[in-house]
Amino acid sequence: QFPVISIDGPTASGKGTVAHRVAKQLGFHYLDSGALYRLTALSAIRHGIDLWEEQQIADLARVLPCRFEKGHVFLAGDDVTDAVRQEVIGVAASKIAVLPLVRKALVELQVSFRQAPGLVADGRDMGTVIFPDAIQKVFLTASVEARANRRYKQLIEKGFPANMEDLVKDLAERDARDMARTEAPLKPAPGAFLLDTSHITANEAVHQILSLYAS
Ligand code: CDP
Repeated sequence: QFPVISIDGPTASGKGTVAHRVAKQLGFHYLDSGALYRLTALSAIRHGIDLWEEQQIADLARVLPCRFEKGHVFLAGDDVTDAVRQEVIGVAASKIAVLPLVRKALVELQVSFRQAPGLVADGRDMGTVIFPDAIQKVFLTASVEARANRRYKQLIEKGFPANMEDLVKDLAERDARDMARTEAPLKPAPGAFLLDTSHITANEAVHQILSLYAS
């Protein structure tokens, strides 16, 4: 089996940037599992399916027509790279992520990213559920303020509307949903290295993870 480094943590903890850079440094593949939940949510919305229709959404997720190419994400052939980053889609993704059948439907797709020479997997349950045999497990955290600030900057950069007060509320609600769900709740995997990124840069976090992996 090819090695996996799992990087889990709450919303806007910096996982995406850090995991992506670690993958690049090692020449590993990169799995943005959150994008799969976002794509599933977008697909459900496009099909006019309500976000609590578990079976129907799981059916969509099982055959999700997605493609990742050169930093772009496609859904049924459409470039949805920016569309999936919208906060409404993040919130919708967090809602469908509580549905056990939807989580189950996405397992195979996630596992298929494990290819030579290795994989950096970013998400909530990479080290606990999807890749329990990951060779290096990391749990990234950051204060709510640091996370809200980061998300604000990301959204503004993309030209999306953002409001600090709403973001803090969204973050808190998403944290609560991630931690309270019965299926794969967000928590550090046994043996995970806990890394608080509130006061360090993404590159410092990358450096720490690479040193751990090398040791
Ligand atoms: O960017 P952000 O961290 O807010 O979210 P994301 O990683 O893109 O994931 C979107 C949503 O999918 C999250 O709010 C989680 O509830 C859910 N998710 C999950 O349940 N399990 C994963 N492995 C990845 C994401």
